[in-house]
Amino acid sequence: MKRGTVKKCKVCGYKTSRSTCQYCTRKAQMISHNFLEKFSKSQFTPRICKIIANEEYINKPSMDNLFLYGPSYTGKTISACKHLLGHAARDYIEQTHRTFLFVKVSELLDYFRKAMNPDTATKLSRELLQNIDCLVLDDLGTEKVTDWVYEQLFLILDYRYEHLKQTIITSNYDLEELANKYSDTRITSRIEHAYTLLKMK
Ligand SMILES: Nc1ncnc2c1ncn2[C@@H]1O[C@H](COP(=O)(O)OP(=O)(O)OP(=O)(O)O)[C@@H](O)[C@H]1O
Ligand SMILES: [Mg+2]
Ligand SMILES: [Zn+2]
Repeated sequence: MKRGTVKKCKVCGYKTSRSTCQYCTRKAQMISHNFLEKFSKSQFTPRICKIIANEEYINKPSMDNLFLYGPSYTGKTISACKHLLGHAARDYIEQTHRTFLFVKVSELLDYFRKAMNPDTATKLSRELLQNIDCLVLDDLGTEKVTDWVYEQLFLILDYRYEHLKQTIITSNYDLEELANKYSDTRITSRIEHAYTLLKMK
């Protein structure tokens, strides 16, 4: 069997058959195509893009589900977005073709309400949200809780829990406060068991 010549990647030194390894080639493409900037613009509000554009680093993607909670203005939303960006960067480099979405809980409930009316139906269905590979749900607990609202949130979070889909949640409330607000622990017990809890201050 003919063996390919083994070279070293000129960027990282890792063994490769080419002058630059696949990983370093992808990384260079990501930078030259402004991938992170384009991804930010497609997902986040101008306010978030502006803050993230000044960042020197993007969070190293944690494979865990994350529950980021704490008072207002402690950087929960920005941190969640940086995690999402980290995952998107890894996906680009490893070509895993995962799907990503950042959405505020109040906005998504608004989409669902509109979707029930054929005149205002939108593309963002519950089924779609359930199957996004990496999802940020921003501001859980700010929604006005009705039985219907709770059921929608439960269906999304329970499906993602059962199918091991990665989720990042931000909230002004801790799990006990959320459970009180919902008068139910089905959502919070899943978060407690399947998420890494990070208190921001
Ligand atoms: N990494 C960062 N670099 C620069 N500024 C930051 C960073 N993270 C947070 N901030 C500052 O903190 C502010 C609040 O951040 P963020 O919107 O994430 O707060 P939050 O915890 O989500 O608040 P709320 O609970 O009200 O939604 C930002 O507008 C920004 O000015
Ligand atoms: Mg926020
Ligand atoms: Zn390399």
